[in-house]
Amino acid sequence: MKYYIATDHAGFLIKERVKEMVEALGHEIEDLGPFSADRVDYPDYAHKLAKTVLANPGSFGILICGTGIGMSLAANKHEGIRAALCHDAYTAQMARAHNDANVLCFGERVVGLGVVESMLKAWNETAFEGGRHEKRVEKIETDES
Ligand code: RB5
Repeated sequence: MKYYIATDHAGFLIKERVKEMVEALGHEIEDLGPFSADRVDYPDYAHKLAKTVLANPGSFGILICGTGIGMSLAANKHEGIRAALCHDAYTAQMARAHNDANVLCFGERVVGLGVVESMLKAWNETAFEGGRHEKRVEKIETDES
């Protein structure tokens, strides 16, 4: 599985550790920046990562900012991106199993390295369940109410 990762300055410190964790799970991960801790605007990196994931079907993205909120809001502007703001292994597992999420978002200022590792493992081990969830995921993009 191919992963892409991007952060802002508030997610930058943890980025190298996250890349190592993804590689330890047996996956390739490409860093879309930033490459210094200078202040940047999180939407610039969320949009860059969302477009890259969409251009590479089947790939996953990881977005990290201070809270994960801004990154998820911006990434979800792209049709076909389901960016899930996760806080623990359970939310990461459900994001894959029920929501078929393709981008994992979290906050460097919210979770510690142990929680991050458990989220990545849960995400990695969990496939979309399909079935009754298929139609619900389709309805995220198409309003049938
Ligand atoms: C940066 O200070 C912070 O606002 C950003 O990383 C993120 O948490 C926004 O949602």
